[in-house]
Amino acid sequence: MDYTDLVEKAIEAKQNALPTYSKFHVGAALLTENDKIYTGSNVESSSYSLTMCAERNAIFKAVTEGERKFKAIALAGDTKGFISPCGACRQVISDICGEIDIIMIDGKMNTKVMKTSELLPFAFKEDDLNNK
Ligand code: THU
Repeated sequence: MDYTDLVEKAIEAKQNALPTYSKFHVGAALLTENDKIYTGSNVESSSYSLTMCAERNAIFKAVTEGERKFKAIALAGDTKGFISPCGACRQVISDICGEIDIIMIDGKMNTKVMKTSELLPFAFKEDDLNNK
C-alpha cells in the first residue's frame, strides 16, 4: 500500500498544532474506507491533562463528520526517530478504527507500519463490557 499522500498530510498537519506548553508538534492523518483523509494536530490546555493528541483529534473529527470505517492512520512528530502513538490513542484507535495500519514517521520521512493489535496486544474491547 502506498501511503505517500497520507504521510505528507500528517507532516503538514504538524503546522496546525497548538503545543503551547510542550512545544512538541504532532500531526496525524486518518484514511477512511472511501479514501478520504482527515487530519488532526495536538492541542494543549493550561490544565495539562485536558490536552488532546493529534491522532484522537483526527479520529474524533472524522467520526463527528459521520465516518465509521477506516484503513490507516499516519502520525508525525518533532522526533528524529519514529514517533509512536501514546497508550490512550492506541485504545481509541483499537475501539474506533479496529485493525488498521498505523504509519509511524521519523524525521527523515521514513515510515514504519504496524497493525493496531501489534501496538496494543490483548486490548480491552467492547466485548469485555458484555462479559460480566
Ligand atoms: N502527543 C500526541 O499528539 N500524540 C501522541 O501519540 C503522543 C503525544 C502530544 C500530546 C502533547 O501535546 C505532546 O504530544 C507532548 O506529549
